[in-house]
Amino acid sequence: MKRFLALAAAALLTVSASSGAPGDPGGGDPYFPGQGNGGYDAGHYDLVFDYNPSSNVLRGVATISARTTQELSRFNLDLTADLDVSEVTVNGAPATFTQGGTELVVTPVAALASGRAFTVVVTYKGRPKHVVDPDGSRGGWIRTSDGVFNANEPQGAMTWYPGNHHMTDKATYRFSVTVPSTRVAVANGDLISRKSTGDRTTYVWDAKEPMAGYLTTVTIGKFRLTDTKIGKYRTIVAVDPKLADKAANLAERHAPVLDYFASLFGPYPFSSTGAIVDHAPKVDYALETQTRPIYAEVPGEGLLAHELAHQWFGDSVTPSRWQDIWLNEGFATYAEWLWQDKIGERSLQTSFDTAYATAAKDAFWKTPTADPGGPAALFHDRVYNRGAMTLHVLRSKVGDTAFFQILRTWAAEHKYGNADTPAFIALSERVSGHDLSGFFAEWLFKPGKPAL
Ligand code: TRP
Ligand code: ZN
Repeated sequence: MKRFLALAAAALLTVSASSGAPGDPGGGDPYFPGQGNGGYDAGHYDLVFDYNPSSNVLRGVATISARTTQELSRFNLDLTADLDVSEVTVNGAPATFTQGGTELVVTPVAALASGRAFTVVVTYKGRPKHVVDPDGSRGGWIRTSDGVFNANEPQGAMTWYPGNHHMTDKATYRFSVTVPSTRVAVANGDLISRKSTGDRTTYVWDAKEPMAGYLTTVTIGKFRLTDTKIGKYRTIVAVDPKLADKAANLAERHAPVLDYFASLFGPYPFSSTGAIVDHAPKVDYALETQTRPIYAEVPGEGLLAHELAHQWFGDSVTPSRWQDIWLNEGFATYAEWLWQDKIGERSLQTSFDTAYATAAKDAFWKTPTADPGGPAALFHDRVYNRGAMTLHVLRSKVGDTAFFQILRTWAAEHKYGNADTPAFIALSERVSGHDLSGFFAEWLFKPGKPAL
């Protein structure tokens, strides 16, 4: 995303002599080619919607501030056809549009010049449906008995709002969500206001730091919401009343983990933290939604540390391609091992040895970490555990000082941005001064169990 000033809409309606070219309908990721779109860069999403948990009807207005990266005659937004678009404007003027599959195709009255700021407003309504991911798990708008569990990695965002849902197009967000007053709407960032009118309440959340679409959430349900400054961190925790007993000190458990990780990886990158703990029996994973991870159970220390470590590795620094997912999961798993070691739950060496003990003929070793083989394999053990082992072996090769210097530099140099595996290898070699090509080739790119 690039920041820009909001200009008068009329000034942006560029009438061009030439008609420009249509933006690409996909972002070109090898695992999810249709995800994201070309021709523009989103900067801010202002998502205003109303949701009725009993009918599952969502009525929304999405205002997207963006900038063209080419002269643009037409562009796409990702949105599933379960949501009906009734109106689209570009810079205040009605635009024509079509919907099909997961694409909303918008044609402004005149082509937009290259490098120009523009605003698109999409009015839409429908009954959102979750998506089934290539690995069979549910994502996106997942209904629960009292609302919605909303987890969007890797492709759920298109199930509830239009956007450029590619991991490299980060943007800031504001969510204004109106729900029956018996429910709470929890999102990323800071809670700005909560106002009731009649029997409905509007929650406004502001996510000021750039965020990839897959890390957004608006989760709705019967929640106990607490908002407390604990240590350095504004900690906002939402817990489903069904799970409240086990969550007694959940808010207080965040600061010690964040302080420890800050001492290793550099400052916590966001303005608030917290958790969303929802009762969602059909979901079997947690997700590092930015600032405020979402859990389908009260997390133990390992899982809490894993999702909080993702705030540095995954959220602030995001891979550029899905095949680099080990940069998220390997790092978060290693951080989880570090925290478990720190609190005496399990030693780091035990975690490594247990993972490494996997027999050489096991399928675990068959696909390389840095390209786990396709979109169904994103969340396989070999990404998590082989990724974490790779870091542990790297540490033994370069020593503690260089190793943590590599992690801190990675977090600092790519803060709020994206990076890929070759960039991590180059950084490791630069900081350590070692030639690590053989080591990384064996651990990241070749199938088979590396010798120690
Ligand atoms: N990224 C999540 C984590 O490890 C896991 C996850 C997200 C996941 N979406 C998923 C696992 C879908 C299985 C299926 O913190
Ligand atoms: Zn993870």
